[in-house]
Amino acid sequence: MTKDGFNTRAVGSGEIKDKRYGNVVTPIFQNATFLYPNYSEEKIEDPNTKDSYIYSRWGNPTVTALEEKYASLEEAGNALSFSTGMAGITSLMMSLIGKKKRVLSIIDLYGQTLSFFKNKLPRYGLDVDLVSVDTLNSMDFDMGKYDVIYAESMTNPSMKVLDLKKVAEKCKENHTDLIVDATFCSPYNQNSIKMGADYVVHSGTKYLNGHSDTMSGFVASERDLSAVFDMRKNLGASMDAFQAYLVQRGMKTLGLRMKQHNANGQAVAEFLKENSHVLSVNYPGLKTDPYHEIAERNMSGFGGMLSFRVKGGLDGARKFMKGLKSISAAPSLGGVESLATLPIDTSHGSVSMEDRKIIVVTDDLVRLSVGIEDHEDIEEDLSSALSQMA
Ligand SMILES: Cc1ncc(COP(=O)(O)O)c(C=O)c1O
Repeated sequence: MTKDGFNTRAVGSGEIKDKRYGNVVTPIFQNATFLYPNYSEEKIEDPNTKDSYIYSRWGNPTVTALEEKYASLEEAGNALSFSTGMAGITSLMMSLIGKKKRVLSIIDLYGQTLSFFKNKLPRYGLDVDLVSVDTLNSMDFDMGKYDVIYAESMTNPSMKVLDLKKVAEKCKENHTDLIVDATFCSPYNQNSIKMGADYVVHSGTKYLNGHSDTMSGFVASERDLSAVFDMRKNLGASMDAFQAYLVQRGMKTLGLRMKQHNANGQAVAEFLKENSHVLSVNYPGLKTDPYHEIAERNMSGFGGMLSFRVKGGLDGARKFMKGLKSISAAPSLGGVESLATLPIDTSHGSVSMEDRKIIVVTDDLVRLSVGIEDHEDIEEDLSSALSQMA
């Protein structure tokens, strides 16, 4: 039997339909607790505990429905959801404590992940060495030293692209676990597990939900995730039923949204490249982008995230941001609406000046999450704000 297509799975996978009620969409099980023991012969078990539901920090049917939908889109055997993306990342990394000793990570990480890796993980015995994406892509280091490699498959905010297939192959040869944060790609543009990663993490706050109205995180793997499940319980990093309902509702249109994000990202990047107030554009869909060829091999679409440097330094960048009208000046990304931010103020505000230099987060760098509006309107707003900088 052939597998259903992406959009069919997005709509139908994981849905809880009870013929007795005839409900068409998954109900919200707004329950902190459940009957336990449950003596019903028809009881439905939580797949994570193989027991009836007991307490929503362990598991909740609406959350299970969401995890099944996400797993089917990721094409991974096992998946867990979390209250936020950082809850997923920290639960996964903390579950490695005591087992794995040395981690190699790219330095071009989301600011909070970098701060967790640099300032917290070493206190739990997990030493983290940091290298550039380019060093990782070239495999120019002693692989034998590392138990775990961690990378974002498209980096924030410089849009560098991980050569996932190549790195995954080397990791397999060396029995090193590969963890990939594929938030910027979403499972529509990249199925990291199928491409060889051992674990994939997402901030579901971004594309997976897609409406900038709730937070979430995901971890998926072909491996057993019971240690991560246990850590989620310890940390209390679980999602609640209403949050899960919102995320599964957003996830149903992931394919439709990503198609438009991909097309708009390309159009807006090409538009910005020609604007005289713009110094440079980072977008792997541009043929001239240094990561274009790697992205072509590792992604099925180039996505809606881009960054660009404006003329006039920090002053120019601030004037540009002030001049935006329909595009909101706000952090976060992956929603239906276009959002612009200066990474030095938001995502990378906590990153030291020294590290900013290495990952090339300059004062004049603007990050743009291109939404699903008509791209001509996005371009008009950008053009107007850019012209006000002079
Ligand atoms: C690439 C990436 N990973 C993880 C996170 C953390 O996700 P959350 O804010 O949902 O905790 C973010 C947040 O911006 C991100 O951009």
